[in-house]
Amino acid sequence: MEDFLEDIKNDHRDFDQGKLEGNFGSTPFELFQKWYQEAFETNQVEFNAFSLSTVDQQGQPSSRILYLKELIDEHFVFYTNYESHKGQDLARNPKASMLFFWPGLQRQLRIEGTVEKVEEAVSDAYFASRPRGSQIGAWASKQSEWLEDRSELEHKVAAYAEKFPDLVPRPAHWGGYQLKPILVEFWQGRPSRLHDRIVYFFENGQWHVQRKNP
Ligand SMILES: Cc1cc2nc3c(=O)[nH]c(=O)nc-3n(C[C@H](O)[C@H](O)[C@H](O)COP(=O)(O)O)c2cc1C
Repeated sequence: MEDFLEDIKNDHRDFDQGKLEGNFGSTPFELFQKWYQEAFETNQVEFNAFSLSTVDQQGQPSSRILYLKELIDEHFVFYTNYESHKGQDLARNPKASMLFFWPGLQRQLRIEGTVEKVEEAVSDAYFASRPRGSQIGAWASKQSEWLEDRSELEHKVAAYAEKFPDLVPRPAHWGGYQLKPILVEFWQGRPSRLHDRIVYFFENGQWHVQRKNP
């Protein structure tokens, strides 16, 4: 184990796959779409997974991985349980940050902004598109609450499957959130830790773009 830790300490691999130079557009959305599409087309593992960080009433941050599902009118949309840990954090403090990491492309994408629930019709449409098992799961799981035993959950799954033999309606506690960004940072790894960092920030009603030190 110690050898392994020593090896990690001495591993100074470089980033050398790309650069961010030139003109990137007046808003972050063109470059986001380019990077997102490239992550998809180059088969990056879980390319649409990101870490969402929220902060609770005591100022304690917490993070978890979610899937980005839609980009609607320049808002980043994800789906979850509104009563979960993250849901409770967001109800009190709607500020959140999203982080994508595409190691195969040596890219990190950082997004900060404010979150609100999507319109009910948007959640309804997405819920209806989910596999039946996930729909039943959304009813059965009290996401983030303590669970004495897994069998408790499985009994609830069976009960809801019986209750909804055909169409499964969307539970009111489950739906989408949309994050409206005020900051988007594109990070491209470069040799000798001299990475490119291009930051878009929204101020005085418009987007500005500036480079940061690595
Ligand atoms: C790859 C991956 C994708 C995930 N996608 C979602 C998602 O889209 N929605 C969701 O509620 N949880 C998703 N999860 C589970 C969350 O990471 C988390 O465990 C759950 O939402 C409860 O978080 P909370 O207790 O902090 O609210 C995903 C986990 C992984 C590893």
